[in-house]
Amino acid sequence: MRLGVLVSGRGSNLAALLAAEATGRLAPAEIAVVVSNRPDAGALEVARAAGKPVAVVDHRDFADRDRFEHALLAALATHDAEAVILAGFMRVLTPTFVAAFPLRIVNTHPSLLPAFPGHDAPAQAVAHGVKVAGVTVHFVDTGVDTGPIIAQRAVPVLATDDAAALHRRIQVEEHRLLPAVARALAQGRLVCEGRTVVIRAAPGAADADADQLL
Ligand code: GAR
Repeated sequence: MRLGVLVSGRGSNLAALLAAEATGRLAPAEIAVVVSNRPDAGALEVARAAGKPVAVVDHRDFADRDRFEHALLAALATHDAEAVILAGFMRVLTPTFVAAFPLRIVNTHPSLLPAFPGHDAPAQAVAHGVKVAGVTVHFVDTGVDTGPIIAQRAVPVLATDDAAALHRRIQVEEHRLLPAVARALAQGRLVCEGRTVVIRAAPGAADADADQLL
């Protein structure tokens, strides 16, 4: 399955996806193109260093969201992307974009959704005083961080944590989980039953707790 990876930032999740691909842990998924809405995103250098095709579709160059997304979809189509991974992509997608990849868009978000959607989730968690934070990988629907949850990992919040320290520890889990979910998607092992995502065992593998299947 050819993946288009959308990015806006540093690119540590993209690096995790690339490392998984390089070591055979992403197959049958492969990264076909990396698209950034920010020309200065560090993720672009990460992609180039790995020899991946990149495209910049700067949202500020477009009069409205529809035209921006039309250009995003064109960049993905140029590289025959069959599914989309949002790896730190900080723009909300419209129903038109979501409909172009039904149950084929996956986002990673640094909180245990439905807590703390939107921006700066680790800072929201620290400000709220929660004791457990984490990461959620989910299908994208037309809401903000509201789509069916594929997998989550919990991370304790330490008394000494500020938002940056908590985010760093969340990312350790995130960098394991996102490539595993991308692979399961490409293997056709993610089945959506209403809001519930069932993770099927790999062919030949024994049935096990869903958490063990990623
Ligand atoms: C990631 O932690 C991701 O979960 C978050 O942005 C970070 C990007 O880091 N995404 C969101 O907050 C989306 N609402 P990266 O550029 O190093 O992968």
